[in-house]
This record gives sequence, C-alpha cells and structure tokens, in this order.
Amino acid sequence: MSNLKKNSQLVVIVPTYKEADNLAELTRRIFLAVSKAGIETELLIVDDNSLDGTEQVCKTLANQHPVRLITRTLERGLATAVLHGIRESEHDYILVMDADLSHPPEDIPRIVHLLNEGYDFVVGSRYVKGGSTDAEWGLFRWVNSKVATLLACGLTTLNDPMAGFFGFPRRILAGSPQLTPVGYKIGLEILVKARCQKVIEVPIAFTERVRGESKLTLQQQLLYLRHLRRLYRFCFPQTAEIIQFAIVGSSGVIVDLFLYLGLTYGVRIDHQLSRAISFVAAASWNWFFNRWFTFVNGRGKKWGKQWLQFLTSASVGFTVNWGSYKLLTDYVPYLGQHHIVAFFIGILLGMGSNYTLSRWFVFRPFNESIEGARP
Ligand code: GDD
Ligand code: MN
Repeated sequence: MSNLKKNSQLVVIVPTYKEADNLAELTRRIFLAVSKAGIETELLIVDDNSLDGTEQVCKTLANQHPVRLITRTLERGLATAVLHGIRESEHDYILVMDADLSHPPEDIPRIVHLLNEGYDFVVGSRYVKGGSTDAEWGLFRWVNSKVATLLACGLTTLNDPMAGFFGFPRRILAGSPQLTPVGYKIGLEILVKARCQKVIEVPIAFTERVRGESKLTLQQQLLYLRHLRRLYRFCFPQTAEIIQFAIVGSSGVIVDLFLYLGLTYGVRIDHQLSRAISFVAAASWNWFFNRWFTFVNGRGKKWGKQWLQFLTSASVGFTVNWGSYKLLTDYVPYLGQHHIVAFFIGILLGMGSNYTLSRWFVFRPFNESIEGARP
C-alpha cells in the first residue's frame, strides 16, 4: 500500500457527546493504524459542547497528532455533527466512525484501500462473512438492528446499511441533493442521496463500548421511521405517493363504513341520508390526510377550495366506481354471474380516477425536489 500516501488525503470525522474518556485511546489507535499504512490523516472531532473535559483532552492530543476539535453550541445530534465536519473539511476521502471504540480503527486502512480502488462508499459491516457483533448484544438490540435493516432493503442492497463506520470520496457529494437526515442514520442518507453505485462492505468486529454510555434513545430510533419515509419518497416518488394514497383511501373506507352503520343503526336516521353523510365525512377525512401526508405540495393551497375540489373528485370517483360496476354486470356475462369481481374492479377504477384527479387537479403540481422540506 505504499502508493496510498500520494492518493489519499483522509479526514476521520468523529461525532462526540461526552466521550472525553475514549478520545486518547481512539486517537492513539487511529494514528497507529494509518501511519503503519502510510495514510496521511486528520482527525476531526465534532463535539456538541459536552463540557466533560473534551476540550482539554483534544488540546493535549493535538500536540502529538493532527487532531482538530470543533465545538458546536447551538445544535445537537450525531448526523448534523457529521455533516458539519464534512463542510468544515476539504479532504478527498471522508471516513466516519464512533468515538467509543465500537469500530476498530485498525480497519481504516482497508477502507481507504478500497476508496483508492474507486469505490463510492465503503462500509465497515457487522453483517457480512467475517463480521460480528458483541456477544453481549442482547436479543432486543439484535432484533432491533435487524428490523431496522430490513426496513431499508428497498433502498440499498447492503447487509449493514445502519453502520456508523463508513468511508467515501468527497466527489460523490458533488451532484447530490441537500442532505437532510432526521435522526442519526447519516450513512444511509449519504448512500441514498448521493446515489452511490460502487458500494462494498468490509467485515468488522463491532465491540460494545467500555467507557461512557450510548446516546441513542428510543426517540432517536423512532425518527428513523420518518427518515425512511423520506428516503423512499426520494427514491420512488410516484410509487410512494400511490401507496400512501391507497393507505389513506383504505382508512377512509373504514370511516365511511362505521359512520354509515352508526348513523343508520345507532342514531337511526334514514339510511340514504346516512350514506350521504358518511360519504362526505370519509371524503373529508381522506382529503385531510392526503393534504397532510400524501402529497408533498398538498399544503400549499388554500384549504377551503381544495376541500371542495377533493369532494368533487371523490364524487367523480364514486360515480366511476358505481358506473363501472353497473356496466360490467350488465354487459359482461362473466361479471353478470360474478358480482363480487365487478365490485372490486369498480373499486380499483374508482381509486384510479380518484388518484388521477387528486394528483393532476386537487394537489398538483408534482414536485419531488421539495422532498425533505416537510417533516
Ligand atoms: N456530536 C454529537 N452529538 N455526537 C453524538 C451525539 C450528538 O448528539 N449523539 C451521539 N453522538 C456520538 C457519540 O458520542 C458516539 O461517538 C457516536 O455518536 C455513536 O453514539 P453511540 O451513543 O455510541 O451510539 P450507538 O452505539 O447506540 O449506535 C451506533 O451503532 C449503531 C448501529 O448499531 C452508531 O454508530 C449508529 O450510527 C449505528 O447505527
Ligand atoms: Mn456506541
């Protein structure tokens, strides 16, 4: 690896919060590993004002190694700290790792070597052959990690996309849209948004931290679901929208049904009147959630007019649904025998009409670039 020095200008970005006790050993092991491999490296610690002695420790370490500390006082969070470090550095190669020695610094040269070979994104992976997690990992944490990984399977083929130990060349960020992670999966954000093509995993042995404690709360983990939704919308904007529309529509059917039954058999008003009321109520329900949830630009319009437009398009959808049922059962002999099939075809055609009108009329325009602007 003697040619590494020439090609590589590496920054190791380590986000920290109350990690003062880990920094000396981390720094020692990082620089031992990279100097053996001849990789010129700067260590950039992005600390969120831990006030635990981090500054003093870094000052001492900076006497021996190229270590830089950035202290943020206005913001907190792992992912934004990493982004901050990326912005504040200029090196061609960026490597991100945790401070708590869960990620073995000895694996850095292998990652850099693959970056030199032209890879876009290299992950220190627990879930490939040769990789491992600590035996102390409880079942809960293991299942948790596996489920999180499974949920991301439509976004990446990596076995360990949740990893916090990864490297990439700065060039991949050049054409990428704004990075807006919610939560802490910054690696996944970069991998997806930069549309990395040449991706590879190297096995690592992940060890549990010895000093300090984990900062990642359940709340952070729940943010992951929101992050996932954003990333899926980013990768498959139209499909994600149709699926969300279908989810909202199905919930509307339930509202429709229960209201209709409640008004007819509970309140005992005329069944045709309750049918009309439940239709308007369910359509309003759908409108509200589609405005709030499905369509990226949905909230940009005045709500009163949009609501009326949605009711109109829902009425058209209902007419299409009922009309196609009638035509199909009247004129298609098979469907004249099998009403239930016609019933579902009607529902599909009605939903198709609803979606088309919603997309191109009620909630237009379609603009995926706004992705990320919404929570
Ligand atoms: N600047 C900053 N601000 N750093 C933070 C913050 C914060 O608010 N919260 C955590 N960190 C730092 C920690 O100091 C540590 O260096 C690193 O981010 C990881 O935090 P841990 O608290 O050790 O996280 P973990 O061990 O639960 O999670 C790790 O493993 C996961 C996979 O199991 C992380 O690497 C995750 O990214 C990874 O998904
Ligand atoms: Mn950790």
